[in-house]
Amino acid sequence: MIDLAPSILAADFAHLADQIDRATQGGASLIHVDVMDGHFVPNLTVGPPVVKSLRKATRLPLDCHLMIENPDQYIPEFAEAGADWISVHQEACRHLNRTLHLIKSHGCHSGVVINPATPVETLTEVFDIVDYILVMSVNPGFGAQQFIPAVLDKVRKLADLRATRGHSYRIEIDGGVAMDTVADIVRAGTEILVAGNAVFGHGDPKQNAQALLEAARSASLQRV
Ligand code: DX5
Ligand code: ZN
Repeated sequence: MIDLAPSILAADFAHLADQIDRATQGGASLIHVDVMDGHFVPNLTVGPPVVKSLRKATRLPLDCHLMIENPDQYIPEFAEAGADWISVHQEACRHLNRTLHLIKSHGCHSGVVINPATPVETLTEVFDIVDYILVMSVNPGFGAQQFIPAVLDKVRKLADLRATRGHSYRIEIDGGVAMDTVADIVRAGTEILVAGNAVFGHGDPKQNAQALLEAARSASLQRV
């Protein structure tokens, strides 16, 4: 089962509801919201007020990717605003176990994210807590960057460890997902695809989402 989570970072912020609607018609099943604080990453984006407005504009689950320091301080507000899935960076959490339980205590799916330089082994102790693991395939902070193929080894490792140890987390990837990278991404074992530029960067988000999903689904049939 492949899910497409368009990232609104690449959308036209003056027409978010329309753009999300088009992407939904194209098969999107989650909406990815990139939250940046200008400290953990060198960029600023949106916070709970935008999540609150999005909650009224779509029925799809809101997948909030917190690229912020001290996420514990803001998790309750994001949950209250309508976030359904909340992920935090391993690199930003001193007490990751506590933070993931905090997310769950608000009734949200809890996710953990690893940067390209962070190994999978840093997550073994939270495998049984998380609902999903997000593997960054670019260094976080900006859209439309070049995909880093080496991270696919981490996706394969996460899929293998899940099978051998009997865990149930899902595997998500974020950064540089596009028509020319999606087949390898899916064949490595990725189940949730975040895509900003490839969905909203040009043309019609509906057609872009459809094309990406079609490529992903045909590649998943060829998984080895
Ligand atoms: C990057 C963000 C991504 C970004 C992906 O820090 O986490 O979600 O929007 O953008 P694309 O798909 O354009 O690489
Ligand atoms: Zn993201």
